[in-house]
Amino acid sequence: MFEAHRIDSTDKAAFHRELAAQLEALLAGEPDPIANAANTSALLFQMMPDLNWAGFYLMRDGELVLGPFQGKPACVRIPVGKGVCGTAAARGVSVLVEDVHAFPGHIACDSASRSELVVPLIGRDGVIGVIDLDSPLTGRFDAADQAGIERIAAIYLAACGETDGAALAKAS
Ligand code: SME
Repeated sequence: MFEAHRIDSTDKAAFHRELAAQLEALLAGEPDPIANAANTSALLFQMMPDLNWAGFYLMRDGELVLGPFQGKPACVRIPVGKGVCGTAAARGVSVLVEDVHAFPGHIACDSASRSELVVPLIGRDGVIGVIDLDSPLTGRFDAADQAGIERIAAIYLAACGETDGAALAKAS
């Protein structure tokens, strides 16, 4: 049985290295994208301090549709280009929002959210979804978190067979 181990979060780079190692162990040998998204969001929500929502939106017929997540019930459909999630999906790059009230078009699913980090999932044929993290604290996420969650996205994609894992091997 997989057991998540508590990680010291004072050194963010070390925290994200350990988080990535735990996710690799958790997803090892399992290619199912929904099962892997469910376990990835559970691990992120359990291990990362100060989150009120952690989960996936998955591309379905050109629109982002709510996938596995932890937190309060959320908006189901987000058009590409709308909100923080749709912006990350449209641009194919991560979007880090220190203060959601200052992001024009932010979609408020949980009124407790103050900052947000969205990382696109770029598979073999383009963007297949996003990972979305919300925090009740303004400025919760920084560049170290962005790099860490981009690595989490790469581990998810490799486990699901959406990349050949070469980029992942190089980055580790
Ligand atoms: N705030 C997001 C919507 C999703 S919820 O935060 C879970 C956005 O603006 O895209």
